[in-house]
Amino acid sequence: MCCTRFLRSGPWLAAVGFVFLGANLPGVNAADESAQSVPRDQFGAATVEFQQQALDKLMPAPAASKAHEAFDPVIWEAFVPADNKPTPERIALGRKLYFDKRLSQDGSVSCATCHDVTRGFTDQRATAEGIGGQIGKRNSPTTLNVALLQTLFWDGRSPTVDHQAKMPILNPIEMGMPDEATALKAIRDDQEYQEAFKKAYGREMNYEDMGRAMGAFERTLVFLDSPLRRFLAGDQEAISSQARAGWELFNGKARCVACHPINPSNPLGTDNRFHNVGVAARHQNFESLAKQAIKALAEDASEQKLDELATASDLSELGRFMVTQNRSDIGSFRTPLILNIGITPPYMHDGSLATLWDVMDHYNKGGEANPFLDGGIEPLALTEEEIDQVVAFLFTLTDVRFSEENQRQIELQRAAAAKQRPVRDEAMAFRQTLPFEQRVTGAKSTEQK
Ligand code: HEC
Ligand code: HEC
Repeated sequence: MCCTRFLRSGPWLAAVGFVFLGANLPGVNAADESAQSVPRDQFGAATVEFQQQALDKLMPAPAASKAHEAFDPVIWEAFVPADNKPTPERIALGRKLYFDKRLSQDGSVSCATCHDVTRGFTDQRATAEGIGGQIGKRNSPTTLNVALLQTLFWDGRSPTVDHQAKMPILNPIEMGMPDEATALKAIRDDQEYQEAFKKAYGREMNYEDMGRAMGAFERTLVFLDSPLRRFLAGDQEAISSQARAGWELFNGKARCVACHPINPSNPLGTDNRFHNVGVAARHQNFESLAKQAIKALAEDASEQKLDELATASDLSELGRFMVTQNRSDIGSFRTPLILNIGITPPYMHDGSLATLWDVMDHYNKGGEANPFLDGGIEPLALTEEEIDQVVAFLFTLTDVRFSEENQRQIELQRAAAAKQRPVRDEAMAFRQTLPFEQRVTGAKSTEQK
């Protein structure tokens, strides 16, 4: 089988001895025995203490400031702003802020609520839940390796992690602080913070430095050590023969590489560009949404308004269009990084696909038809066996430090997929026969006329 190999990816794995737990995936069985033993809050996130300990084990303190050494130093430099060179003081301050619930309006939510160390630095939910039980429109991406992205957020509306970190605190459905001053007030009297800010940036506490410190912390979350990386470095045995076949398909028949390039100098698996792959607007009309968006943005084009519309309104489905107002960007989203993809379900900007098998079905069908669909998305005619191979490959993108959670996800997702997508046709996998194939193979179309 594909996956036993993960269990023997080096002696130090066992030494990590760290258990990842608890999924609340729609459609994936969360009644996992071991999930009981992790202390969780009302959002289902592991408690701050538990997450902190987990992070210490994953990334012991001296390693944190050297994490980026796994990356090409020249490229790395380009991602570090001149005004925020990482220092141990900045990283420590950012880490403290990342876990601090006082930065939310009712003291219940921190960054780590939605980007939980024990869940692949996401919440493993379809869409995020913020203060007062408010459910957003978008799926929480991982904070692993985000410092290496050219733009942040599904629609790329933020240029750097330093900038991005200032947004959720003020977002009304995430952390809900009314303004920067109120956010600062929440921690201003804390002497530890006062000293930490002085040591980190040599000046009084301020909102910009808060963002910078969290950015410095996120630049330590570099987790690139996947079996695939070892395979590309020459270790043929690092991934199974099934995954090797999947890698061939990824670069060939399945055409994933067109948007998710992966190579030693670009390990993330994203082209950093925007595409409509037929996920958006499953239930809505793009044209009327676009009209509403133009009106709303004419009234208030501030950064904060855009953040609110993107995360909390139906206009979310317009994706990149909200940033550029270019028609060709309607329903387009930034190609997500797919490193560590196995441990960050569910998938897509709206969390609408529960497992990697569902993702493959989506692509195999050629996405959902819409006038703005990317030209690179067409039905693939992959067989069920080929889908299994690509999925096996995708699970080799997880850093070996998460191999326990990765293995757990392989099992959970395989079980969920087996239930949700019964194989109707071995040769063509779970999909309709589309007119395109009818022409090519002579198969009968199953589309309703
Ligand atoms: C209530 C849940 C929630 C909280 C709290 C939250 N986030 Fe997020 N985060 C999200 C969602 C949802 C998105 C995607 C939003 C979008 O793209 O429009 C996101 C996006 C991001 C991204 C961009 C990732 C990418 O691939 O582009 C980063 C980085 C990030 N968050 C870091 C943080 C930090 C730092 C904090 C704390 C200051 C934080 N988040 C608080 C839910 C949350
Ligand atoms: C035309 C460009 C394009 C092609 C081709 C493409 N992708 Fe994607 N991929 C994207 C974009 C854009 C998204 C986000 C779409 C959204 O959420 O609306 C995405 C999302 C994903 C996700 C979910 C990521 C997450 O964090 O939720 C996975 C997994 C994925 N793609 C794998 C693949 C595989 C495997 C293939 C080949 C079968 C493939 N992609 C082909 C652009 C592409």
